[in-house]
Amino acid sequence: MKTNDAPSADGVWHHCHLLADADPARAMRDAAIAVEHGRIVWLGEASALPESLRHLPRHDAAGAWITPGLVDCHTHLVYGGQRADEFAMRLAGASYEEIARAGGGIVSTVRATRDADEATLFAQAAPRLEALLAEGVTAIEIKSGYGLSLDAERKQLRVARQLGEAYGVTVHTTFLGAHALPPEYAGRADDYIELVCNTMLPALAGEKLVDAVDAFCEGIGFSPAQTERVFEAAARHGLPVKLHAEQLSNLGGAALAARHRALSADHLEHLDEAGVAAMAQAGTVAVLLPGAYYFLRDTHLPPLALLRQYGVPIAIATDHNPGTSPTTSLLLMMNMACTLFRMTVPEVLAGVTVHAARALGAADRHGRLAVGRVADFALWRVDSPAELAYRFGGNPCAAVVRQGRVHVQGKGIQR
Ligand code: NIG
Ligand code: FE
Repeated sequence: MKTNDAPSADGVWHHCHLLADADPARAMRDAAIAVEHGRIVWLGEASALPESLRHLPRHDAAGAWITPGLVDCHTHLVYGGQRADEFAMRLAGASYEEIARAGGGIVSTVRATRDADEATLFAQAAPRLEALLAEGVTAIEIKSGYGLSLDAERKQLRVARQLGEAYGVTVHTTFLGAHALPPEYAGRADDYIELVCNTMLPALAGEKLVDAVDAFCEGIGFSPAQTERVFEAAARHGLPVKLHAEQLSNLGGAALAARHRALSADHLEHLDEAGVAAMAQAGTVAVLLPGAYYFLRDTHLPPLALLRQYGVPIAIATDHNPGTSPTTSLLLMMNMACTLFRMTVPEVLAGVTVHAARALGAADRHGRLAVGRVADFALWRVDSPAELAYRFGGNPCAAVVRQGRVHVQGKGIQR
């Protein structure tokens, strides 16, 4: 359902099992959740439901497992066109970097995004968002970065906000002006960074379109020095930062991000121990993106053992974008994080809930079910939460409660 007039979730959800904080060891069978005025007012074992809540209307969950709504903490959901031809070029032997350096890649999506108006961008992004929501996503990050001019970046961010309103889903916007060098700035990267820091960011932050600031620190993106200028500009506006770091090479981006207290550093295939240590110290979340790893046929694994050893929180996201990860399935990313990165089931469950919420700077609102929070949860037709990571290509989501409203899909909650 596209609008906010979906039915209220108020009442007692019973005949369910509960994974309130993504830790399977603390899963609760025969549980119940009570919702009033769109907020969770009680959760626990059904037999302990307080007398005072027994009069509330009942929602029969039909034996479903209930988890926190999933959080997709890294997406580029709003853009024009698609890049299937580039995929074909890569299959014929060209590398992602070669295509980018030849004027394709990100810059080709920039052309298509600049050419589209807001209504077109909304119409193209809507089905992608719907697919994510159908799999239990209740909070999502959406980056700009395919406009690369003030007007076109504004257009992307405005559409991201409009999607949040239209679908009753939490959208966190990230300004990624420093994603690639627009063609009109060829050979003048420092001048473009100046525009990003001193014109684009002040205007867009002033319009309340920016929740966080990101950059692409890479040989085909921007240098650590240029990235740092972007981070300093973000700080002047009181905005948290994130970074596309160590995807194709190691430029020390993750450590730089950690020095700026980044919410997250993302990709990280080439992350080294110094970067891991810096992230651990700063509390920066490692956002791993198995879709991009898979689609680029990367073979350089992110350093899972080190991330675990240093206790860095690990999130998983779709990185939905037309160039390196044209997927709209966060469940598939969970499975791929297990098969490709050898992550465990508890790790990927935390990776799309508590840790993903933290990567958004929203750990106090998303990723965990708790009394007082807005009711954002998903009902699953599975026998155990591990099934969410085990299956691939299906969707066992029976219903989603977003912002206190019920959205039913598939065959609903009947088993
Ligand atoms: O997250 N790494 C840079 N940015 C995107 C890809 C963008 C594109 O190719 O269009 C990513 O993978
Ligand atoms: Fe990305």
